Amino acid sequence: MKILFVCLGNICRSPMAEMIFKDLVHKRGLDQYFLISSAGISDEEKGNDIYPLAKRKLLEKGITVEKRRARKITQDDMRNYDFIIVMEKYQGDKILKDYFVKEKLKVRCLNEKDIDDPWYSGNFEEAFQDILTGCEKLLKELEKKL
Ligand code: 4NP
Repeated sequence: MKILFVCLGNICRSPMAEMIFKDLVHKRGLDQYFLISSAGISDEEKGNDIYPLAKRKLLEKGITVEKRRARKITQDDMRNYDFIIVMEKYQGDKILKDYFVKEKLKVRCLNEKDIDDPWYSGNFEEAFQDILTGCEKLLKELEKKL
């Protein structure tokens, strides 16, 4: 199952979701069933690694942080991924407007409530907790489909 987490810049929330989801999957011994990545709807941060404060929060929680480079989503992603999981509702709306997505239901919000951008709020703990809650719920649902 291929999962792409998406936020605005791809340096805070979606890389956090990517690493948290990978950690949950790994702890359950399910690595072989998942391909997990992340991207942004903007190319503002193209090529940049995860934001240092996001990295610090993940390390503080005992989560492995892989080196990475921010990238913008592409039309190919819409076909390649089974689920495109956005952090804020407007991001999903923008994806459906700007790209052709055959199965629109594959574009979903991580949580019902938007995940505040810690890049602006500075609250990486809140972002972590909200993303963790969403990832746990998502994995519980997807495990049943394996
Ligand atoms: P993210 O946070 O969407 O959670 O990665 C942001 C990072 C950078 C920018 C916006 C949001 N920016 O405009 O550069």
